[in-house]
Amino acid sequence: MWRVKPLDAILATAQKNSLTRTLGPVQLTLLGVGAIIGTGIFVLTSEAAQKAGPGMMWSFVIAAAVCAVAALCYSELASMVPVSGSAYTYTYAVMGELLAWTVGWALILEYAVAASAVSVGWSGYFIGLLGSWGIELPLAIAAGPYAGGIVNLPALSIALLITLLLMLGTTESARVNAILVAIKVLALSTFIVLTLPVMQGANFEPFAPKGWFDTTGQGLGIVGAAATIFFAYVGFDAVSTAAEETKDPQRNVPIGLVGSLLICTVFYLLVAAGAIGALGAQPVPGPAGEILAPGSSALAAQCQALAADGSQPLVCSREALAHVLRELGHERIGDLIGIAAFLALPSVILIMLFGQTRIFFVMARDGLLPGFLAKIHPKWKTPHIVTMITGVGVAFFAAFFPVGKLADIANSGTLFAFFMVAIAVLILRRKDPTRHRPFKTPMVWVIAPLAIIGTVGLYFNLPTDAKLVLPAWGALGLVVYFLYGYRKSHVGRGIIDVPEADPDAPPPPVPHMPGDDKDH
Ligand code: ALA
Repeated sequence: MWRVKPLDAILATAQKNSLTRTLGPVQLTLLGVGAIIGTGIFVLTSEAAQKAGPGMMWSFVIAAAVCAVAALCYSELASMVPVSGSAYTYTYAVMGELLAWTVGWALILEYAVAASAVSVGWSGYFIGLLGSWGIELPLAIAAGPYAGGIVNLPALSIALLITLLLMLGTTESARVNAILVAIKVLALSTFIVLTLPVMQGANFEPFAPKGWFDTTGQGLGIVGAAATIFFAYVGFDAVSTAAEETKDPQRNVPIGLVGSLLICTVFYLLVAAGAIGALGAQPVPGPAGEILAPGSSALAAQCQALAADGSQPLVCSREALAHVLRELGHERIGDLIGIAAFLALPSVILIMLFGQTRIFFVMARDGLLPGFLAKIHPKWKTPHIVTMITGVGVAFFAAFFPVGKLADIANSGTLFAFFMVAIAVLILRRKDPTRHRPFKTPMVWVIAPLAIIGTVGLYFNLPTDAKLVLPAWGALGLVVYFLYGYRKSHVGRGIIDVPEADPDAPPPPVPHMPGDDKDH
């Protein structure tokens, strides 16, 4: 179970059973931005305010910094191994099959659960829009059991619709994505232009009402809020999952990863400053001054009481950005921001699902999941079977679980994957120092340890329940591995591909260190 899949074999497998290389640097960056801007900034900003107050400015910075160092690590591996599978593939090559399996398994939390979370976030906007047209959905089909309903039908439907798009082919989907990215960027720009000029210094006081670190198990404080707002940046690594469908991946994948992260960070900081400065972002305490956890029914009750008195603080809103603009008197534009979120959040679902299906695809290609999953449709040229199965799973969770929980759970899986990637970069520098690295992480012995510390730090500041999901999910993954993948693994059965000539393939890697290609 410690067997590794040699890098050369990974590249060879990708050549033999490959996806078509169609994506360029602009499409990749759009893919990144499409994956990044979503529920995090549009919905979870309120949650961050409840956890940290105006200090959430630092939360955005901390989360961005952790993602930035992780992105630099991702870039090195993604440029060396430009094949599908992202952190899973890198771990397989460096740390062996068992850990690779756990990473692939954790990536399910990242991509699939995040897709579910965004589907639920979208359904909130959809239901709001219907409401503004005078159509009230019955609660039974408008929310899951957690909110007194039966099934969240809009969330379920959007997840299935996006699945269909993906099954029909990447190119069409990428085009749709580009339009939706434009809508999101326009919405955030409008928000910034309208809020920054009316910022008031007083709204930043007190700056850190809950301090820096969480001591309550509810993920409060600036770092606690960073652990949640981390969700707003999740998705840039989806770029690396598309490496196998990218032209000139050695150059374009780092551009896509770092570029998209940079663009979003600038937008987020401006949006957060605008929201705090224009409206204020103080946490709402309970009637006796007690701390209220975001997403709790106690907070909801307190918000209702405040609303009855005509007060609508930011933390009580489920559509934070639209709410700020409405409070500033821009009613119509606030509504338009709501429509933008309604139109654009599906692009986030699309990228998350895309990433998930590609990871399943590669795991199946390696024999760790049943092989029929890796089949490519003759006409659509997509791994249609695994896409359909993933989509149904995502739709199920979207139908029955609340958005905040799903986001925190997605974060726990993502932090684990980033952590492993940072370790993999360091191990590979030691183990295989001469291998050609088209992109090298600058100051890797500083950057990668920072990524390791950052991911561990954020993980431990998640709410306790989200923290516990990761080990529980991991244990389940181990059972599945030993029941199936351990015996069926292609590497384990000695089925290793050898490199062959391919005009689209990256330049042949330099010979690797002796001992690298042995099964362990
Ligand atoms: N970063 C993505 C979002 O905010 C997952 O929705």
